[in-house]
Amino acid sequence: MIEMTGVGKSYGPIRALRDIDLRVNAGEVTCVLGDNGAGKSTLIKIMSGLHPHSSGVLEVDGRETVFTSPRQALDLGIATVYQDLAVVPLMEVWRNFFLGSELTGGRYPLAGLRIRDMRRIADEELRKMGITVADIDQPIGTLSGGQRQCVAIARAVYFGARVLILDEPTAALGVRQSGVVLRYVAAARDQGIGVVFITHNPHHAYLVGDHFVVLKLGAMVLDARRGTVTLERLTAEMAGGAELAELAEQLRRPA
Ligand SMILES: Nc1ncnc2c1ncn2[C@@H]1O[C@H](COP(=O)(O)OP(=O)(O)OP(=O)(O)O)[C@@H](O)[C@H]1O
Ligand SMILES: [Mg+2]
Repeated sequence: MIEMTGVGKSYGPIRALRDIDLRVNAGEVTCVLGDNGAGKSTLIKIMSGLHPHSSGVLEVDGRETVFTSPRQALDLGIATVYQDLAVVPLMEVWRNFFLGSELTGGRYPLAGLRIRDMRRIADEELRKMGITVADIDQPIGTLSGGQRQCVAIARAVYFGARVLILDEPTAALGVRQSGVVLRYVAAARDQGIGVVFITHNPHHAYLVGDHFVVLKLGAMVLDARRGTVTLERLTAEMAGGAELAELAEQLRRPA
């Protein structure tokens, strides 16, 4: 669905990304791993229309594209769930679900929000993905971080995402809540959605990934399909095996 060939991005004199070749396929989870500043967020900002790339070719459904706005990417079914989520904590769950895409009925000046429909649909969609919130009217700020991620994913799926980009959805979560989010990642994949999963955590990536890309200082240092790479290798590439050995040496306690 998305293909990048030799894509690069500079912010002024800073080269944040260079020479990226990447394909996002339907019904697969593509994991993008890398340390802080490796270029992960920059990569997904290019896919989601936030920043245009400065070199190389970006194709969507085989057509060369340069996005000029996130709306353009969204119209092609490329939805992004950012880490900060952009929810309004004090608003009800259903209102956040429909934020910016509210259902309205009637004609101006009698147009009104179809509140009952929105509450019902939000409730149904969340249940469909196995998310149980006690009350669809509770402020979203009272949900746990994991539940909020899940609401954001369910929302993107309901509004027709074909490509779902998740920027570190498990970064702030504990083991159990990460498990919940990873289950929705798998559910989205099984519905045929192409998922791009950004993470620092090779264990999380390995649980759901079909394809693994490791970035380092803006360049790809590993590009492997599931089955051709072990978790150990992935972890070593991520951490920089040599750097880790050096750190172990530096932190060694005197006997
Ligand atoms: N708007 C910007 N202007 C200038 N430099 C930027 C900008 N955004 C990112 N960079 C630089 O590009 C590089 C890659 O940043 P990016 O945010 O893509 O990393 P990341 O892999 O997402 O890191 P993290 O894991 O910390 O989120 C960094 O060196 C960063 O300083
Ligand atoms: Mg980032």
